[in-house]
Amino acid sequence: MHRAAHFRVNLFPAYANQVYWVAIGAVAAAIVVTPVALIVWARMPYATGQGEPPEQPIKFDHRHHVRDDGISCEYCHGGAERSPFAGIPATSVCVNCHSQVWTASPELAEVRRSYFANEPIRWRRVNALPDFVFFNHSAHVTKGVGCVSCHGRVDTMGQVYQAMPLTMRWCLECHREPEKHLRPLDKITDMEWTPDPARAKELGRELRTTLGVRSVVECSGCHR
Ligand code: HEC
Ligand code: HEC
Ligand code: HEC
Ligand code: HEC
Ligand code: HEC
Repeated sequence: MHRAAHFRVNLFPAYANQVYWVAIGAVAAAIVVTPVALIVWARMPYATGQGEPPEQPIKFDHRHHVRDDGISCEYCHGGAERSPFAGIPATSVCVNCHSQVWTASPELAEVRRSYFANEPIRWRRVNALPDFVFFNHSAHVTKGVGCVSCHGRVDTMGQVYQAMPLTMRWCLECHREPEKHLRPLDKITDMEWTPDPARAKELGRELRTTLGVRSVVECSGCHR
């Protein structure tokens, strides 16, 4: 009796139990950890595209054009006020100035090629939402949301990069309490404006009322 039982136990090596539990543990861990890891990864700057500027066909520098030369955002991205799209300026806009300044610069060779060949410059997109998300620039810009709130200090960027996460959570954080992010309409393109801290809350509420700003949180607001 005793011998037989002993023999049977020996059919399964002593470490079998441990292997079994280690395997169960690994599977359980994978089930729990994998989605969590994916969610964390999906929210990290690397996955959202935040922070890294794409390689552009021309080294166009917002610091020189906006800060040093004082050209306003509207001059090149006027669509933001009137339409869903801010737009990228046509080559002819560059040529307005560059037929006079830096005309022979090798850095502008691509501008000249594009102009004379009548082919657009192939700028790479920096900020891009998935197709199933509805977005509209003028809906924001005419309701007191400034460029800097969504694009950061473009005037200090040698190369434009995606400054904000552009995730659904990020959109909703502002949509839930838009009064915290509103500014007077004449400060929309002002990169440096901040409200007087002593009056910030009051001003936010005032702007929300005068501009008639709603809190858009229903799914159909952004998914239509
Ligand atoms: C002289 C023209 C000019 C002016 C002025 C200008 N931009 Fe631009 N902007 C461009 C060009 C050209 C690009 C495309 C190349 C690039 O991404 O760097 C661009 C790209 C951008 C992008 C990235 C677009 C994308 O693909 O997502 C943002 C955001 C932007 N500009 C914001 C601003 C803001 C804010 C201002 C004012 C503070 C401004 N720009 C002023 C010409 C201009
Ligand atoms: C309103 C006038 C104006 C417009 C429009 C303009 N530029 Fe310029 N750009 C300048 C001036 C002035 C400089 C001289 C550089 C400086 O300020 O340091 C310059 C310099 C440059 C340079 C040299 C490198 C640098 O940034 O210093 C490049 C490249 C350039 N511009 C590309 C462009 C492109 C591409 C466009 C069109 C999207 C454009 N510019 C539109 C005025 C303009
Ligand atoms: C509420 C946030 C928000 C505000 C405010 C905003 N943008 Fe944008 N912008 C975005 C998003 C998001 C995209 C990407 C849109 C897409 O992929 O459809 C974008 C794209 C752009 C582009 C690329 C071309 C295009 O039209 O898609 C430019 C240029 C730009 N913005 C400039 C500006 C300027 C200039 C202002 C201020 C006058 C401004 N934006 C205000 C969020 C914003
Ligand atoms: C910093 C604040 C802020 C951020 C960030 C922001 N929004 Fe908005 N959004 C607003 C305000 C304010 C309005 C105007 C509400 C109104 O029309 O009364 C608005 C309006 C809209 C509307 C128009 C709704 C309608 O029915 O006209 C859409 C669509 C929208 N936002 C999408 C987005 C998306 C998508 C994102 C993220 C990529 C985003 N917004 C990020 C503040 C913001
Ligand atoms: C203010 C704009 C806005 C509103 C309101 C909104 N979404 Fe989104 N949603 C986005 C943006 C931007 C993305 C893409 C970026 C991302 O995935 O975070 C997105 C992505 C998604 C995705 C893709 C999966 C994911 O998480 O990446 C689903 C599903 C979704 N939304 C469902 C909903 C539902 C359901 C509601 C209503 C409860 C809703 N959304 C309301 C802006 C919005």
